[in-house]
Amino acid sequence: MKNQNFKKAFAVVQSGYDQIGESYSLERKGFDNKCEVDAFLSCLPQHARVLDAGSGTGIPIAERLAQEGYKVVGIDLSATMVTVARKNVPGAEFHQMNMTAMDFPPESFDGVISCYAIIHTPKELHETVFRSFHDILKPKGVMLVSVACWEWEETADYLGVDMFWSHYSPSKTEALIKDAGFDIEFGRRVEGGGEVHHWVLAHKN
Ligand SMILES: C[S@@+](CC[C@H](N)C(=O)[O-])C[C@H]1O[C@@H](n2cnc3c(N)ncnc32)[C@H](O)[C@@H]1O
Repeated sequence: MKNQNFKKAFAVVQSGYDQIGESYSLERKGFDNKCEVDAFLSCLPQHARVLDAGSGTGIPIAERLAQEGYKVVGIDLSATMVTVARKNVPGAEFHQMNMTAMDFPPESFDGVISCYAIIHTPKELHETVFRSFHDILKPKGVMLVSVACWEWEETADYLGVDMFWSHYSPSKTEALIKDAGFDIEFGRRVEGGGEVHHWVLAHKN
């Protein structure tokens, strides 16, 4: 029964972002996370291989990583988003893949970044996501994620389509991140675009 619910949730998110496609870019412009992304980049070695999980249109995250000279791999549930990202950031590679069922070898990335995407994944699977991020990171690898500021689950209208959100509180999320094998450098509230999110920078221990 649970699996059926997860499938339904993924279908809503995938179909939603397939429909929103490029128009999401306009909405995204109001969100500024330069400070958090700068902190993440400062932890990466030269020529690092970085996964952008839930890469959306590729702008601004994958684009910035590619411009900085990193090898970027983006994954997204939405085929439309993958197509848009390939066009926007030709210097990176993008795959249609679910972050809860990734197909990468262990210890194959120096960094993992996931902005505004885990919040669309059923919260019962957040533990799986953090453990998978830990598995694919090299020793001392770094992870930057944005999560939610409160526990909540809802399917509601977003930019004219149905969308699904699911998340735990920051303290529960940080506990999952620690249990997955990370040391947290910071966890902080960041406001922007009329929303507030909790950002966590963590290192594989
Ligand atoms: C709000 S957008 C954020 C896009 C981008 N990270 C950014 O910063 O603009 C969320 C993206 O995450 C993707 N996504 C949601 N759940 C996902 C999952 N389980 N696996 C992979 N991608 C997912 C969506 O398809 C969508 O493109």
